[in-house]
Amino acid sequence: MSVMDRDILKVLFTKEEIAQRVAALGEEMRQDLEGKEPLFISVLRGAFIFMADITRACQVPCDVEFIAVSSYQNATASSGVVKITHDIQQDISGRHLVVIEDILDSGNTLAFLRQYFLTKGAASVKICTLLDKPSRRTKAIHADYVGFEVPDEFVVGYGLDYAQKYRNLPYIGVLKPEVYGQ
Ligand code: IMP
Ligand code: MG
Repeated sequence: MSVMDRDILKVLFTKEEIAQRVAALGEEMRQDLEGKEPLFISVLRGAFIFMADITRACQVPCDVEFIAVSSYQNATASSGVVKITHDIQQDISGRHLVVIEDILDSGNTLAFLRQYFLTKGAASVKICTLLDKPSRRTKAIHADYVGFEVPDEFVVGYGLDYAQKYRNLPYIGVLKPEVYGQ
């Protein structure tokens, strides 16, 4: 047991369960995206591990981009304000985009990004999120591809952080409330 494991209340999805789900999701996406030469855009930093796995699970000719946004500022609830801290590096007009996100929570981030990419002339914007927490949605947005639905609990691991830590846990778990002072 690592020092990080000790901060976990319970495991929601094991490394094996994630691998199995990502493989199935990648195959589903391949069937939809074949012939479209999609551009996968990963939302940093939370989606970096999912991005690496889902692009390999979805065997279509594609290219990859990264965008970084901030809205949380080390808290466990969104501030509602989305800011681009690192932008994509190419023209996306006429491209079919698949935005790769770690978790769809309030929907602020993805509602903002979808609009941003459409304004820049994308032909289509699909959303692929590893986790969906529908109980907390405040924006009318849904994901085209969802790995798992999660309850209203703060989760970490497989890219997801609390105060920038726990991203490298191979599984997804719920943090003990005392770790974030509640
Ligand atoms: P939204 O804009 O409220 O949908 O939040 C999206 C972002 O909030 C995600 O990209 C995550 O970085 C972060 N987030 C939301 N819920 C959690 C969680 O349970 N654990 C870790 N990060 C979260
Ligand atoms: Mg994040």
